[in-house]
Amino acid sequence: MKLSIILGGLAITLSTAAPLAPRVVDYSPFPLADGFPNPSQEQIEAIQQQALGTLPNSPPPPTISAEGITNLQLIALNEIFEVAFFTELLANVTTGCPGFELDETEKEQLVEILTAVQAQEQLHALSANTALKNFNVAEILPCEYNFRVSNLSSALTLASTFTSLVLGTLQDVIEVFAENGDAALAAQLSSVVGQEGEQQGFYRFQQGKIPSELPFLTVATREFAFNALIQQFIVPGSCPNINTINIPQVGPLNLIAGPDIAQNISTVQFEFTLSGQEEATEVAAEELKLAYVNQQNVPIVEDLQILSIEGQTVLVQAPFPYREYLMNGLTVAAIVEGKQFATAQDVSKAMEFGPALIIIN
Ligand SMILES: *[C@@H]1O[C@H](CO)[C@@H](O)[C@H](O)[C@H]1NC(C)=O
Ligand SMILES: *[C@@H]1O[C@H](CO)[C@@H](O)[C@H](O)[C@H]1NC(C)=O
Ligand SMILES: *[C@@H]1O[C@H](CO)[C@@H](O)[C@H](O)[C@H]1NC(C)=O
Repeated sequence: MKLSIILGGLAITLSTAAPLAPRVVDYSPFPLADGFPNPSQEQIEAIQQQALGTLPNSPPPPTISAEGITNLQLIALNEIFEVAFFTELLANVTTGCPGFELDETEKEQLVEILTAVQAQEQLHALSANTALKNFNVAEILPCEYNFRVSNLSSALTLASTFTSLVLGTLQDVIEVFAENGDAALAAQLSSVVGQEGEQQGFYRFQQGKIPSELPFLTVATREFAFNALIQQFIVPGSCPNINTINIPQVGPLNLIAGPDIAQNISTVQFEFTLSGQEEATEVAAEELKLAYVNQQNVPIVEDLQILSIEGQTVLVQAPFPYREYLMNGLTVAAIVEGKQFATAQDVSKAMEFGPALIIIN
């Protein structure tokens, strides 16, 4: 089988064996050899060398809001997850395991990139956890994860997908900091937004896409990011103190089919499972709608058409109005109660199932 990737601006082709079916293993690399998540001062210096820069050394603000604490906890949870992902990806590329083989030059270049990214993510996580400790709040502890990717191109696509969601979520986090008087933290975090955007350009380019996704990146929310992490990557029950993060959990929304712009398929099918008490007929009673968040636009709300109900599991279809709204880049979909929403935060508050992520172009 031939695998084509673009690396360092050069299109290259290499041979690989057919990738193995995704091996489901509960990945638990912590503590890392460099001491993360509790590196000594000496180990921090080594991580900084690899990250090509330092942790911020300006003094933390004297106070923080309760919402600001939730922000820092979510950032720590997410950044530790990213450290795990890039640690495993770096190991896969370095060892050249099936699906991750590269020739020497390309491998050297990708290892250099991923080594810096992995260390930079460690510093992002340490910065959030150090701030929590400074405010006498327990640091967020690592979980176990599953990434379910079996080759380099699907790993880079996954990196791009969660980075899109992070780039949206940090907008919400900054707004929440700003609303609650945590100005110093808002400013510092915007330096991370740019940093993740630089990474995103690279992951997109590797997929043969234009590095810059949209004129105004899709906004997401803390609720979207938290639920996506729990539903898609975290091994259930493996996080020692995730329950200290004050963000509600909802049921997953699985994207089953579509949209496919090239094939002019502008409908989507989703599946979700009602909890014990809920009646599937509630959905039929038109209480639930599908909301889309895309770019910086007012959320789009569509009616659901029920295709099937099996037990508590409901398969629905809804229009995906790509042409009308030019819905490129990340779209976050959620099943909601309600008909009209002014913001992504409003969608999150009404979210019953979600988020599902769709990325076009
Ligand atoms: C990579 O893995 C994905 C998902 O398992 C699969 O669909 C795809 O064909 C694989 N790509 C290559 C180039 O092997
Ligand atoms: C690394 O490779 C293993 C084995 O193929 C796979 O299960 C895992 O999902 C991969 N992880 C990443 C981040 O590439
Ligand atoms: C795509 O679908 C739209 C809406 O159904 C239709 O107006 C348009 O003609 C279709 N385009 C092509 C190329 O089939």
